[in-house]
Amino acid sequence: MLSLIALSGLIASAVAVEPFWNEPDTGLETYLHSTNWTEGTQPLLKDMRGIPDFDFAARQSLDGQKYSFYRTANAGEWSYRNNLEIWSKVHFRTRHLTDVTKVNQTLATTILGYNFSAPVFISPAARGAYGDPDRAELNFVEASAKENTLYTAALYASKTIEEIAAAKSNDTLNGPQVLFQQIYTNANLSVTWDIIDRAEKAGAKAFVWTIDAPATSVRHRAARYDTTNANAVTSALTWDIYDQIKNHTKLPIIPKGITTVEDALLAIEKGAKAIYISNHGARQLDHSPSPLEIAYEIYRNAPEVFTKVEVLADSGVRYGSDVLKLLALGVKAVGLGRPFMYANCFGLEGVTKAIQILKSEIAADAAQAGIQDIQKIPTSILNLRALEPTVFLQEGTKVTGSL
Ligand SMILES: Cc1cc2nc3c(=O)[nH]c(=O)nc-3n(C[C@H](O)[C@H](O)[C@H](O)COP(=O)(O)O)c2cc1C
Ligand SMILES: *[C@@H]1O[C@H](CO)[C@@H](O)[C@H](O)[C@H]1NC(C)=O
Ligand SMILES: *[C@@H]1O[C@H](CO)[C@@H](O)[C@H](O)[C@H]1NC(C)=O
Ligand SMILES: *[C@@H]1O[C@H](CO)[C@@H](O)[C@H](O)[C@H]1NC(C)=O
Ligand SMILES: *[C@@H]1O[C@H](CO)[C@@H](O)[C@H](O)[C@H]1NC(C)=O
Ligand SMILES: *[C@@H]1O[C@H](CO)[C@@H](O)[C@H](O)[C@H]1NC(C)=O
Ligand SMILES: *[C@@H]1O[C@H](CO)[C@@H](O)[C@H](O)[C@H]1NC(C)=O
Repeated sequence: MLSLIALSGLIASAVAVEPFWNEPDTGLETYLHSTNWTEGTQPLLKDMRGIPDFDFAARQSLDGQKYSFYRTANAGEWSYRNNLEIWSKVHFRTRHLTDVTKVNQTLATTILGYNFSAPVFISPAARGAYGDPDRAELNFVEASAKENTLYTAALYASKTIEEIAAAKSNDTLNGPQVLFQQIYTNANLSVTWDIIDRAEKAGAKAFVWTIDAPATSVRHRAARYDTTNANAVTSALTWDIYDQIKNHTKLPIIPKGITTVEDALLAIEKGAKAIYISNHGARQLDHSPSPLEIAYEIYRNAPEVFTKVEVLADSGVRYGSDVLKLLALGVKAVGLGRPFMYANCFGLEGVTKAIQILKSEIAADAAQAGIQDIQKIPTSILNLRALEPTVFLQEGTKVTGSL
């Protein structure tokens, strides 16, 4: 007969929440302890084998305040966890014997007509100087030039718009290096117009307008170190401001932070040439959806979005296979935020290596998944059944963008 204590133990284990690993254990720590590495110091760059390794490394070398600013997410960080874990719910349906020997040659893509070597880019993230006090974002510019990938500079970068522009290369797949500029709109719009003018003069090719930060956000992990948000102003964000920005610049304006099919459709109505699905790395609102869930909601309710505009995405992407899953739903290119901030602790070589790891994982995983052309991945490569309950709007429902 079961005692009450044993029974309650059984119940507890039955309802126990799965433990959460910020990085899965792939042996990094065990390996490092077998070398002359000492805890609390930066490991060697050569020992970074996967993107999550850079998080571990940054945690060793950055102080608590700086690491927390990069690592923090909203409130209980349940969305941060979901961003990392959701990928494992969608399995690959590999078709074998498909001759994938040329898949390497299909990594290159275009974003808004510009040529890039791979469908991955550096997302805009503030305070690059925490990782590399001297070079800060200049490493993102130079690594992106070396690797022919896109860098989207953050308004609250440690370096100025002009310093970032001055580091651009003249010799990339596009000729002079292409950068996009992220902006927040200020309550005083003349401040915004000044920023837009400066970025245009500095040669930015598109604006990424962040729409998911209308107010301060609850960040317990950062608050412990009294670390404020880079953007803590409450401002009246509306689609009318989108129209006003359009009146101020001829460059494409990409709304960043789309989390529903309705807003995706509305952005298209407003004339966006590209949209950016993201929950801001779960830094704004807990229980906001991951990019895989958002992309699937759009795919199920308005799949034409992916052909009418270019769809960028980020939040929780850590592996080549994560990138492939988003591409299979119609996403054009995929960004990463934290991983590059962490990699920047190793300077230019670290950021460059992180881009190279992603490229080689995308190619290797594509081959394993039977994908012949990374630009034309059939959605049937994915078993999406597990995401079905997360799709709020059901097939056949009329979906419009109008508010
Ligand atoms: C330290 C840090 C600072 C960020 N700053 C900005 C910012 O200034 N503007 C913005 O639009 N997004 C910002 N983001 C969000 C990123 O652009 C991106 O959406 C997010 O990091 C993606 O999630 P990931 O970190 O899991 O890859 C920031 C993210 C981090 C980690
Ligand atoms: C460990 O020793 C090697 C060889 O002496 C040296 O090159 C390396 O920098 C050391 N690594 C660390 C983390 O101290
Ligand atoms: C790129 O070209 C411009 C204009 O000719 C020049 O001012 C700049 O120094 C060059 N940049 C580099 C990195 O060579
Ligand atoms: C992009 O590449 C294509 C094909 O190689 C080329 O024709 C085009 O001029 C390139 N675009 C830019 C902006 O360099
Ligand atoms: C708005 O910003 C402009 C430009 O920075 C400044 O001159 C002006 O005084 C500001 N207006 C208000 C109401 O703060
Ligand atoms: C944009 O400019 C046009 C033409 O000057 C004007 O009619 C319109 O009201 C402006 N829109 C906004 C939102 O400022
Ligand atoms: C892709 O190219 C890299 C480097 O040239 C090579 O190491 C890798 O094996 C290739 N991968 C595939 C899937 O062909």
